Amino acid sequence: MKLAATTVRDANLTQLELAGLDAEVNVADGHARQELSAGQQRIIDHLPELFTRAASRPVAELQRAAHAAFFEVFGQHDRPRQPDQVLSCYSSSVAMEILARSLVREVDTVALLHPTFDNIPDILTGVGLRLLPLEEDVLGGGDLDRAIPPTVGCVFATTPNNPTGRVLPQRRLRELADLCLARDLVLALDTSFRGFDVRAHYDHYAVLEASRCRYVVIEDTGKLWPTLDLKVGLLVSSGNVGLPLGLVYSDLLLGVSPLILVMVERFALDAANGGLDELHDHIRRNRELLRETLTGVPAVTFPDADSRVSVERLECQGWTGSEIWEVLRARNVHVLPGRQFYWADHARGERFFRVALARPHRTVAAAARELRQILSS
Ligand SMILES: Cc1ncc(COP(=O)(O)O)c(C=O)c1O
Repeated sequence: MKLAATTVRDANLTQLELAGLDAEVNVADGHARQELSAGQQRIIDHLPELFTRAASRPVAELQRAAHAAFFEVFGQHDRPRQPDQVLSCYSSSVAMEILARSLVREVDTVALLHPTFDNIPDILTGVGLRLLPLEEDVLGGGDLDRAIPPTVGCVFATTPNNPTGRVLPQRRLRELADLCLARDLVLALDTSFRGFDVRAHYDHYAVLEASRCRYVVIEDTGKLWPTLDLKVGLLVSSGNVGLPLGLVYSDLLLGVSPLILVMVERFALDAANGGLDELHDHIRRNRELLRETLTGVPAVTFPDADSRVSVERLECQGWTGSEIWEVLRARNVHVLPGRQFYWADHARGERFFRVALARPHRTVAAAARELRQILSS
């Protein structure tokens, strides 16, 4: 597909993902495009029965079943149980839009993790919110009280982060939640990549509920399972959040497809039944394949040694990420440049680019071979 923006440097990440959608080797977007596992294939083979079930059961019941299966497999036992505290959306971006539209009625400024996926700052600024960057190292271990000025009304973090894979540990989430309570800030989390990393499977809701802070969490089924973008984003909030999330939700949608809810339930149950280990193994093997193929190529290193998410950030010397994007694109191979992830300081992101790992092994192998050829020449 043609690139809508004038150059790679002007485009947003989703425009660049769109440009690579039908490419021979697409390792650009972070959506799940690996092959179905045997267990997942069995679910798809039964789609007509799932359709019948979806059409014949009350939506509230399907929703409860989908939510329970999804939250339980990732250890989120103390999640809110009231239906209006867990809103099912078409995608995590739609959940984000609802959060942004609600937030702007009460808050002027958001302290947002830096770097992170660029549609988060784009959606927040799109409704008129002001952003201040919260550096990953500061969120991980700095003086949060000093780093978050009094003008801020909400702190927003992505955990595990995209593209770095960095996880907010339990102790740090507790400190952040306590700070948000003390200063009456809304704490917002995007946990779209949680499924990939067991270090993010501690019960976030137990921490958040115990702190009594006002919180919103965006959960996502879309990065995990290769369901051709049949997915939901969940907008989860505390009872005391004080934002018109339900009202804004009703401005945009009535609900998601019951068929998708049934699929989410079945895929989550399959994950609990060994599918999650298979997925982790698949991503680990693709990460090894990429790193091994590029071993000994001095122009490239892997800064996120510990990452387990389904994307891998690479740091380059002698090239910018945007240049690598252009050279690969001429060969019909699509990655993402790092620049746009550094939404507050694009120049800092130019040292990086990102390769998606939720792909068949042969796709990652082909991308790695091309990269080796280009970077070795
Ligand atoms: C952390 C994060 N949140 C949300 C999104 C948006 O996801 P979707 O396109 O399914 O709405 C992305 C997209 O990659 C992401 O990386």
